[in-house]
Amino acid sequence: MAILKIVKEGDSVLRGKCREIAEITPRILTLLDDMAETLHKADGCGLAAPQVGVRRRIALVEVEEGDLIELINPVIVEKSGHQEEIEGCLSVPGKWGVTNRPMNVTVKAINRNGEEFTVSGSGLKARALCHEIDHLDGILFVDHAQMLDPDEIEVE
Ligand code: NI
Repeated sequence: MAILKIVKEGDSVLRGKCREIAEITPRILTLLDDMAETLHKADGCGLAAPQVGVRRRIALVEVEEGDLIELINPVIVEKSGHQEEIEGCLSVPGKWGVTNRPMNVTVKAINRNGEEFTVSGSGLKARALCHEIDHLDGILFVDHAQMLDPDEIEVE
């Protein structure tokens, strides 16, 4: 496994629409493993393939340690409620903003074995799922967040 370089805001790879995965090749499995290692090293709660320079529809979400969700070709199939919470992004270091997201989402995706599954989440997990899936369409949270003054934020 390898730690990958996380691309920062301003790089055009973050702004394209990512391509679907048609076949899960050994290269895709290696990418998933490397992304997981990169996410853990960065101590984030999600990472999308374009953030490591790969324009494919792959994302990871891990809001509880040890509960790593690998998403291939994820699609939000249900959403309800809403929440306004502070959000950040590994590709936008040092910036934080309040986003309006659904409180609950259900996502359909494919796992590394090529099997379709659904995952549901509320609160932080719902936010992370939405945030990572946005990345696959070239959307960053700064596009729709009310940005906060970095001097006035305390991040734990
Ligand atoms: Ni992000």
